[in-house]
Amino acid sequence: MSGKEEYLRKTAANRAERMRWWHEARFGMFVHWGLYAQLGRHEWVMNRERIPVAEYQKLADSWHPKERPAREWARLAQKAGMKYMVMTTKHHEGFCLWDTAQTDYNAVKRGPGRDLVREYVEACREFGLKIGFYYSLMDWHHPDGAECARDDAAGRLARRRFLDFTQGCVRELCTNYGKIDVFWHDVSWPLRSPEAWESVQMNRLIRELQPHILINNRSQLDEDFGTPEEHVTAAEAGRAWEACMTFNGSWGYMPISPDWRSVREVIGMLRSAAGGQGNLLLNIGPHPDGSVPDEATERLESVGKWIATYGDALYGQVDRVDGRMEWMLTGQWTLKGDTAYYWCDRWPGSELAIGGLQTKVVEATLMATGDPVAFEQTENRLVLSGLPESSPDEIAGVSVIKLKCTGPPHQVLGSGYVVL
Ligand code: GLC
Repeated sequence: MSGKEEYLRKTAANRAERMRWWHEARFGMFVHWGLYAQLGRHEWVMNRERIPVAEYQKLADSWHPKERPAREWARLAQKAGMKYMVMTTKHHEGFCLWDTAQTDYNAVKRGPGRDLVREYVEACREFGLKIGFYYSLMDWHHPDGAECARDDAAGRLARRRFLDFTQGCVRELCTNYGKIDVFWHDVSWPLRSPEAWESVQMNRLIRELQPHILINNRSQLDEDFGTPEEHVTAAEAGRAWEACMTFNGSWGYMPISPDWRSVREVIGMLRSAAGGQGNLLLNIGPHPDGSVPDEATERLESVGKWIATYGDALYGQVDRVDGRMEWMLTGQWTLKGDTAYYWCDRWPGSELAIGGLQTKVVEATLMATGDPVAFEQTENRLVLSGLPESSPDEIAGVSVIKLKCTGPPHQVLGSGYVVL
Protein backbone atom coordinates (compact mmCIF):
# COMPACT_ATOMS: atom_id res chain seq x y z
CA MET A 1 0.00 0.00 0.00
CA SER A 2 1.37 3.42 -0.93
CA GLY A 3 1.83 6.13 1.69
CA LYS A 4 -1.12 7.99 0.23
CA GLU A 5 -3.46 4.98 0.24
CA GLU A 6 -2.46 4.15 3.78
CA TYR A 7 -3.17 7.74 4.82
CA LEU A 8 -6.58 7.77 3.12
CA ARG A 9 -7.51 4.42 4.63
CA LYS A 10 -6.57 5.56 8.13
CA THR A 11 -8.48 8.82 7.93
CA ALA A 12 -11.57 7.05 6.56
CA ALA A 13 -11.49 4.49 9.37
CA ASN A 14 -12.40 6.93 12.17
CA ARG A 15 -14.16 9.56 10.07
CA ALA A 16 -17.70 8.85 11.29
CA GLU A 17 -16.62 9.12 14.89
CA ARG A 18 -14.53 12.27 14.32
CA MET A 19 -17.36 13.96 12.47
CA ARG A 20 -20.20 13.21 14.85
CA TRP A 21 -20.19 16.61 16.60
CA TRP A 22 -19.97 18.41 13.28
CA HIS A 23 -22.94 16.59 11.75
CA GLU A 24 -25.01 17.47 14.78
CA ALA A 25 -23.83 21.08 14.91
CA ARG A 26 -25.31 22.06 11.52
CA PHE A 27 -24.54 25.76 11.71
CA GLY A 28 -21.22 27.59 11.92
CA MET A 29 -19.86 31.12 11.55
CA PHE A 30 -17.21 31.93 8.97
CA VAL A 31 -15.12 35.03 9.69
CA HIS A 32 -13.11 36.75 6.97
CA TRP A 33 -10.92 39.36 8.54
CA GLY A 34 -7.64 40.73 7.30
CA LEU A 35 -5.93 43.82 5.92
CA TYR A 36 -8.49 44.06 3.11
CA ALA A 37 -11.15 45.09 5.65
CA GLN A 38 -9.51 48.53 5.70
CA LEU A 39 -10.27 49.03 2.02
CA GLY A 40 -13.82 47.71 2.31
CA ARG A 41 -13.90 46.32 -1.20
CA HIS A 42 -13.86 42.53 -0.93
CA GLU A 43 -10.95 40.32 0.13
CA TRP A 44 -9.83 39.99 -3.52
CA VAL A 45 -9.17 43.74 -3.80
CA MET A 46 -5.37 43.33 -4.02
CA ASN A 47 -5.71 41.04 -7.01
CA ARG A 48 -8.71 42.60 -8.78
CA GLU A 49 -7.34 46.14 -8.60
CA ARG A 50 -3.72 45.04 -9.10
CA ILE A 51 -2.55 46.94 -6.06
CA PRO A 52 1.27 46.72 -6.00
CA VAL A 53 2.62 44.63 -3.11
CA ALA A 54 4.70 47.56 -1.88
CA GLU A 55 1.58 49.66 -1.58
CA TYR A 56 -0.74 46.96 -0.23
CA GLN A 57 1.61 45.92 2.53
CA LYS A 58 1.40 49.37 4.10
CA LEU A 59 -2.01 48.24 5.28
CA ALA A 60 -0.18 45.99 7.73
CA ASP A 61 0.98 49.06 9.66
CA SER A 62 -2.23 51.05 9.52
CA TRP A 63 -4.36 48.23 10.92
CA HIS A 64 -5.31 48.83 14.55
CA PRO A 65 -8.23 46.63 15.60
CA LYS A 66 -9.93 47.28 18.90
CA GLU A 67 -9.57 45.10 22.00
CA ARG A 68 -10.62 41.46 21.53
CA PRO A 69 -13.35 41.79 18.90
CA ALA A 70 -13.42 38.00 18.63
CA ARG A 71 -15.45 37.93 21.83
CA GLU A 72 -18.13 39.92 20.04
CA TRP A 73 -18.16 37.43 17.14
CA ALA A 74 -18.30 34.43 19.44
CA ARG A 75 -21.04 35.92 21.57
CA LEU A 76 -23.05 36.63 18.44
CA ALA A 77 -22.40 33.16 17.02
CA GLN A 78 -23.65 31.58 20.22
CA LYS A 79 -26.73 33.80 20.21
CA ALA A 80 -27.40 32.90 16.58
CA GLY A 81 -27.42 29.18 17.34
CA MET A 82 -24.09 28.55 15.65
CA LYS A 83 -21.96 25.81 17.17
CA TYR A 84 -18.55 26.42 15.62
CA MET A 85 -16.46 29.08 13.95
CA VAL A 86 -13.88 29.19 11.19
CA MET A 87 -11.60 32.23 10.97
CA THR A 88 -9.14 33.28 8.30
CA THR A 89 -5.69 32.89 9.85
CA LYS A 90 -4.15 33.92 6.52
CA HIS A 91 -6.08 34.88 3.43
CA HIS A 92 -4.76 35.17 -0.14
CA GLU A 93 -3.18 38.53 0.73
CA GLY A 94 -0.61 36.60 2.80
CA PHE A 95 -0.89 38.54 6.04
CA CYS A 96 -0.67 36.14 9.01
CA LEU A 97 -2.98 36.92 11.89
CA TRP A 98 -1.01 34.83 14.36
CA ASP A 99 2.40 34.96 15.99
CA THR A 100 4.44 33.18 13.35
CA ALA A 101 8.15 32.64 12.93
CA GLN A 102 7.69 32.04 9.19
CA THR A 103 7.35 35.69 8.19
CA ASP A 104 7.41 39.15 9.73
CA TYR A 105 4.28 39.97 7.77
CA ASN A 106 2.15 39.13 10.77
CA ALA A 107 -0.21 40.70 13.29
CA VAL A 108 2.25 40.63 16.18
CA LYS A 109 5.06 42.40 14.35
CA ARG A 110 2.91 44.91 12.49
CA GLY A 111 -0.03 47.24 13.20
CA PRO A 112 -2.21 45.12 15.48
CA GLY A 113 0.79 44.32 17.72
CA ARG A 114 -0.76 41.13 19.07
CA ASP A 115 -1.81 37.58 18.17
CA LEU A 116 -5.32 37.83 16.73
CA VAL A 117 -5.64 34.08 16.30
CA ARG A 118 -5.01 33.54 20.01
CA GLU A 119 -7.76 36.02 20.85
CA TYR A 120 -10.07 34.20 18.51
CA VAL A 121 -9.29 30.79 19.99
CA GLU A 122 -9.83 32.09 23.52
CA ALA A 123 -13.14 33.66 22.52
CA CYS A 124 -14.39 30.41 20.97
CA ARG A 125 -13.53 28.53 24.15
CA GLU A 126 -15.19 31.16 26.32
CA PHE A 127 -18.45 30.83 24.40
CA GLY A 128 -18.35 27.05 24.01
CA LEU A 129 -17.79 26.99 20.25
CA LYS A 130 -15.67 24.54 18.29
CA ILE A 131 -12.66 26.13 16.61
CA GLY A 132 -11.81 26.17 12.92
CA PHE A 133 -8.79 27.65 11.13
CA TYR A 134 -9.12 28.81 7.54
CA TYR A 135 -5.76 28.88 5.76
CA SER A 136 -5.19 30.04 2.19
CA LEU A 137 -2.56 27.97 0.41
CA MET A 138 -2.42 30.59 -2.32
CA ASP A 139 -0.32 33.54 -1.22
CA TRP A 140 -0.02 36.83 -3.15
CA HIS A 141 2.59 38.28 -0.84
CA HIS A 142 5.13 35.50 -0.41
CA PRO A 143 7.90 35.91 -3.03
CA ASP A 144 7.63 32.20 -3.90
CA GLY A 145 3.82 32.11 -3.90
CA ALA A 146 3.68 32.22 -7.71
CA GLU A 147 7.29 31.36 -8.59
CA CYS A 148 6.84 27.93 -7.03
CA ALA A 149 4.94 26.76 -10.09
CA ARG A 150 7.79 27.40 -12.55
CA ASP A 151 9.23 24.27 -14.00
CA ASP A 152 12.94 25.07 -13.87
CA ALA A 153 15.70 24.89 -11.29
CA ALA A 154 14.80 28.28 -9.75
CA GLY A 155 11.12 27.25 -9.67
CA ARG A 156 11.92 24.01 -7.90
CA LEU A 157 13.89 25.86 -5.25
CA ALA A 158 11.03 28.32 -4.86
CA ARG A 159 8.61 25.44 -4.45
CA ARG A 160 10.74 23.87 -1.72
CA ARG A 161 10.94 27.17 0.14
CA PHE A 162 7.21 27.81 -0.26
CA LEU A 163 6.26 24.32 0.94
CA ASP A 164 8.54 24.68 3.94
CA PHE A 165 6.86 28.00 4.68
CA THR A 166 3.39 26.48 4.27
CA GLN A 167 4.17 23.45 6.42
CA GLY A 168 5.80 25.71 8.99
CA CYS A 169 2.64 27.81 9.20
CA VAL A 170 0.42 24.77 9.44
CA ARG A 171 2.61 23.25 12.15
CA GLU A 172 2.48 26.41 14.25
CA LEU A 173 -1.29 26.70 13.93
CA CYS A 174 -1.75 23.10 14.99
CA THR A 175 0.78 23.28 17.83
CA ASN A 176 0.42 26.60 19.59
CA TYR A 177 -3.30 26.93 20.30
CA GLY A 178 -4.42 23.74 22.00
CA LYS A 179 -7.19 21.65 20.51
CA ILE A 180 -8.36 22.79 17.07
CA ASP A 181 -11.44 21.18 15.54
CA VAL A 182 -11.41 22.08 11.84
CA PHE A 183 -8.66 22.89 9.36
CA TRP A 184 -10.11 24.69 6.37
CA HIS A 185 -7.70 24.96 3.44
CA ASP A 186 -8.48 27.32 0.58
CA VAL A 187 -7.36 27.96 -3.02
CA SER A 188 -4.51 25.67 -4.01
CA TRP A 189 -3.27 27.86 -6.87
CA PRO A 190 -0.72 27.64 -8.51
CA LEU A 191 0.43 24.04 -7.96
CA ARG A 192 -1.49 21.52 -9.97
CA SER A 193 -1.46 18.31 -7.96
CA PRO A 194 -1.65 17.12 -4.37
CA GLU A 195 1.83 15.69 -4.92
CA ALA A 196 3.18 19.12 -5.84
CA TRP A 197 1.57 20.57 -2.72
CA GLU A 198 2.70 17.61 -0.61
CA SER A 199 -0.86 17.54 0.62
CA VAL A 200 -0.66 14.08 2.12
CA GLN A 201 2.41 15.04 4.16
CA MET A 202 0.82 18.34 5.17
CA ASN A 203 -2.51 16.87 6.23
CA ARG A 204 -0.83 13.93 7.93
CA LEU A 205 1.13 16.45 9.97
CA ILE A 206 -2.11 18.26 10.87
CA ARG A 207 -3.65 14.99 12.01
CA GLU A 208 -0.60 13.94 13.99
CA LEU A 209 -0.78 17.20 15.90
CA GLN A 210 -4.59 17.26 16.12
CA PRO A 211 -5.89 13.68 16.00
CA HIS A 212 -9.58 14.65 16.18
CA ILE A 213 -9.46 17.37 13.56
CA LEU A 214 -11.64 17.60 10.45
CA ILE A 215 -10.09 18.77 7.18
CA ASN A 216 -11.96 20.17 4.18
CA ASN A 217 -11.43 19.29 0.52
CA ARG A 218 -9.44 22.24 -0.77
CA SER A 219 -5.90 20.91 -0.68
CA GLN A 220 -6.60 18.76 -3.75
CA LEU A 221 -7.55 15.83 -1.54
CA ASP A 222 -11.19 14.98 -0.77
CA GLU A 223 -10.54 14.57 2.94
CA ASP A 224 -13.51 14.82 5.33
CA PHE A 225 -16.02 17.13 3.68
CA GLY A 226 -16.94 19.01 0.52
CA THR A 227 -17.37 22.78 0.41
CA PRO A 228 -19.99 24.06 -2.04
CA GLU A 229 -19.60 27.83 -2.17
CA GLU A 230 -22.45 30.33 -2.51
CA HIS A 231 -24.99 27.58 -3.09
CA VAL A 232 -26.49 25.03 -0.73
CA THR A 233 -26.26 21.81 -2.69
CA ALA A 234 -26.14 18.39 -1.11
CA ALA A 235 -23.26 16.08 -1.98
CA GLU A 236 -23.97 12.48 -2.91
CA ALA A 237 -25.31 10.33 -0.06
CA GLY A 238 -22.57 9.31 2.33
CA ARG A 239 -20.35 12.31 1.62
CA ALA A 240 -20.24 15.08 4.22
CA TRP A 241 -20.61 18.65 2.99
CA GLU A 242 -20.72 22.19 4.27
CA ALA A 243 -22.09 25.06 2.21
CA CYS A 244 -20.18 28.28 2.79
CA MET A 245 -22.17 31.42 2.11
CA THR A 246 -21.48 35.13 2.16
CA PHE A 247 -23.97 37.39 3.90
CA ASN A 248 -23.83 40.18 1.32
CA GLY A 249 -21.89 38.85 -1.66
CA SER A 250 -18.43 39.52 -0.24
CA TRP A 251 -16.44 37.53 2.31
CA GLY A 252 -14.39 40.49 3.47
CA TYR A 253 -15.98 43.65 4.90
CA MET A 254 -17.73 45.45 2.06
CA PRO A 255 -20.15 48.14 3.17
CA ILE A 256 -20.87 49.20 -0.42
CA SER A 257 -22.46 45.82 -1.13
CA PRO A 258 -26.07 46.26 -0.02
CA ASP A 259 -27.41 42.81 -0.91
CA TRP A 260 -27.85 41.32 2.54
CA ARG A 261 -29.52 37.96 2.73
CA SER A 262 -32.71 38.08 4.74
CA VAL A 263 -33.51 36.11 7.87
CA ARG A 264 -35.94 34.06 5.77
CA GLU A 265 -33.19 33.21 3.31
CA VAL A 266 -30.84 32.13 6.08
CA ILE A 267 -33.56 29.91 7.54
CA GLY A 268 -34.16 28.50 4.06
CA MET A 269 -30.45 27.71 3.75
CA LEU A 270 -30.52 25.95 7.10
CA ARG A 271 -33.48 23.89 5.91
CA SER A 272 -31.63 22.91 2.74
CA ALA A 273 -28.54 22.01 4.74
CA ALA A 274 -30.47 19.92 7.25
CA GLY A 275 -32.53 18.31 4.49
CA GLY A 276 -29.35 17.07 2.84
CA GLN A 277 -27.46 16.14 6.03
CA GLY A 278 -25.09 19.03 5.40
CA ASN A 279 -23.89 22.09 7.29
CA LEU A 280 -24.14 25.82 6.75
CA LEU A 281 -21.10 28.03 7.33
CA LEU A 282 -22.40 31.59 7.15
CA ASN A 283 -19.87 34.38 6.85
CA ILE A 284 -19.41 37.70 8.56
CA GLY A 285 -16.79 40.20 7.38
CA PRO A 286 -15.98 42.38 10.38
CA HIS A 287 -15.06 46.08 10.09
CA PRO A 288 -11.34 46.85 10.23
CA ASP A 289 -11.68 47.46 13.98
CA GLY A 290 -13.28 44.03 14.34
CA SER A 291 -16.86 45.00 15.07
CA VAL A 292 -19.58 43.15 13.23
CA PRO A 293 -21.65 45.06 10.65
CA ASP A 294 -25.07 45.93 12.11
CA GLU A 295 -26.83 44.26 9.18
CA ALA A 296 -25.25 40.93 10.11
CA THR A 297 -25.80 41.35 13.84
CA GLU A 298 -29.49 42.14 13.48
CA ARG A 299 -30.14 39.23 11.16
CA LEU A 300 -28.15 36.72 13.16
CA GLU A 301 -29.92 37.68 16.36
CA SER A 302 -33.25 37.04 14.67
CA VAL A 303 -32.04 33.73 13.30
CA GLY A 304 -31.02 32.79 16.84
CA LYS A 305 -34.48 33.66 18.19
CA TRP A 306 -36.06 31.55 15.48
CA ILE A 307 -33.78 28.60 16.22
CA ALA A 308 -34.57 28.84 19.94
CA THR A 309 -38.09 27.70 19.03
CA TYR A 310 -37.38 25.43 16.08
CA GLY A 311 -33.90 24.03 16.76
CA ASP A 312 -35.21 20.47 17.01
CA ALA A 313 -36.02 20.59 13.31
CA LEU A 314 -32.42 21.18 12.30
CA TYR A 315 -29.83 20.10 14.88
CA GLY A 316 -28.72 16.55 15.50
CA GLN A 317 -28.66 13.37 13.47
CA VAL A 318 -31.02 14.18 10.63
CA ASP A 319 -31.88 11.97 7.66
CA ARG A 320 -31.77 12.92 4.00
CA VAL A 321 -35.04 14.17 2.58
CA ASP A 322 -34.14 13.44 -1.02
CA GLY A 323 -35.95 10.41 -2.38
CA ARG A 324 -37.98 10.11 0.81
CA MET A 325 -40.26 13.14 0.64
CA GLU A 326 -41.86 15.16 -2.13
CA TRP A 327 -41.77 18.85 -3.03
CA MET A 328 -44.70 20.75 -1.61
CA LEU A 329 -46.47 24.03 -2.25
CA THR A 330 -46.50 25.49 1.22
CA GLY A 331 -43.23 24.31 2.71
CA GLN A 332 -40.37 21.85 2.85
CA TRP A 333 -39.21 18.96 4.99
CA THR A 334 -36.53 17.86 7.35
CA LEU A 335 -36.44 14.36 8.84
CA LYS A 336 -35.15 12.77 12.00
CA GLY A 337 -35.92 9.14 12.77
CA ASP A 338 -39.70 8.70 13.02
CA THR A 339 -40.34 12.43 12.91
CA ALA A 340 -41.00 14.70 9.96
CA TYR A 341 -40.74 18.46 10.29
CA TYR A 342 -42.76 20.53 7.89
CA TRP A 343 -41.18 23.97 7.48
CA CYS A 344 -44.22 25.92 6.34
CA ASP A 345 -43.02 29.16 4.76
CA ARG A 346 -46.24 29.97 2.85
CA TRP A 347 -48.90 29.78 5.48
CA PRO A 348 -52.20 28.59 3.97
CA GLY A 349 -54.54 29.58 6.83
CA SER A 350 -56.45 27.46 9.32
CA GLU A 351 -56.16 24.28 7.30
CA LEU A 352 -53.06 22.64 5.86
CA ALA A 353 -53.19 19.58 3.61
CA ILE A 354 -50.35 17.24 2.79
CA GLY A 355 -50.78 14.55 0.17
CA GLY A 356 -49.08 11.23 -0.25
CA LEU A 357 -47.76 10.56 3.25
CA GLN A 358 -47.30 6.80 3.49
CA THR A 359 -46.57 6.76 7.19
CA LYS A 360 -49.14 6.97 9.96
CA VAL A 361 -48.99 10.18 11.96
CA VAL A 362 -49.53 9.78 15.68
CA GLU A 363 -49.04 13.34 16.83
CA ALA A 364 -48.87 16.77 15.22
CA THR A 365 -47.43 19.76 17.07
CA LEU A 366 -47.30 23.44 16.21
CA MET A 367 -43.75 24.12 17.33
CA ALA A 368 -44.41 27.87 17.61
CA THR A 369 -46.58 27.26 20.68
CA GLY A 370 -45.98 23.62 21.51
CA ASP A 371 -49.71 23.01 21.09
CA PRO A 372 -51.07 19.84 19.53
CA VAL A 373 -52.74 20.21 16.14
CA ALA A 374 -55.95 18.38 15.22
CA PHE A 375 -55.59 16.22 12.14
CA GLU A 376 -57.28 13.63 10.06
CA GLN A 377 -55.36 11.15 7.99
CA THR A 378 -56.96 9.19 5.23
CA GLU A 379 -55.12 6.89 2.87
CA ASN A 380 -53.52 9.58 0.76
CA ARG A 381 -54.11 12.82 2.57
CA LEU A 382 -53.24 14.42 5.87
CA VAL A 383 -55.38 17.42 6.81
CA LEU A 384 -54.35 19.56 9.73
CA SER A 385 -57.04 21.87 11.05
CA GLY A 386 -57.71 24.53 13.66
CA LEU A 387 -54.47 26.31 12.78
CA PRO A 388 -54.02 30.08 13.19
CA GLU A 389 -55.21 32.14 10.21
CA SER A 390 -51.77 33.62 9.66
CA SER A 391 -48.29 32.26 10.22
CA PRO A 392 -47.58 31.99 13.92
CA ASP A 393 -43.95 32.82 13.23
CA GLU A 394 -43.44 36.55 13.52
CA ILE A 395 -39.69 36.42 12.94
CA ALA A 396 -39.58 35.13 9.39
CA GLY A 397 -42.94 33.61 8.53
CA VAL A 398 -41.48 30.11 8.69
CA SER A 399 -43.44 27.99 11.10
CA VAL A 400 -42.54 24.35 11.61
CA ILE A 401 -45.09 21.63 12.29
CA LYS A 402 -43.73 18.48 13.84
CA LEU A 403 -45.28 15.20 12.78
CA LYS A 404 -44.51 12.18 14.90
CA CYS A 405 -45.08 9.02 12.93
CA THR A 406 -45.11 5.28 13.59
CA GLY A 407 -41.95 4.80 11.51
CA PRO A 408 -39.55 6.71 9.25
CA PRO A 409 -41.77 9.10 7.26
CA HIS A 410 -42.15 8.54 3.55
CA GLN A 411 -44.17 10.45 0.98
CA VAL A 412 -45.17 9.44 -2.53
CA LEU A 413 -46.98 11.74 -4.94
CA GLY A 414 -45.39 11.58 -8.36
CA SER A 415 -46.63 13.67 -11.28
CA GLY A 416 -49.82 11.88 -12.17
CA TYR A 417 -53.12 11.78 -10.40
CA VAL A 418 -54.68 8.44 -9.62
CA VAL A 419 -58.39 8.50 -8.95
CA LEU A 420 -59.08 6.19 -6.02
C1 GLC B 1 -13.06 31.55 -2.48
C2 GLC B 1 -12.39 32.90 -2.46
C3 GLC B 1 -12.04 33.35 -1.12
C4 GLC B 1 -12.95 32.94 0.00
C5 GLC B 1 -13.39 31.51 -0.14
C6 GLC B 1 -14.41 31.09 0.88
O1 GLC B 1 -12.19 30.51 -2.60
O2 GLC B 1 -11.23 32.93 -3.25
O3 GLC B 1 -11.82 34.70 -1.12
O4 GLC B 1 -12.25 33.06 1.16
O5 GLC B 1 -13.88 31.30 -1.38
O6 GLC B 1 -14.92 29.83 0.60
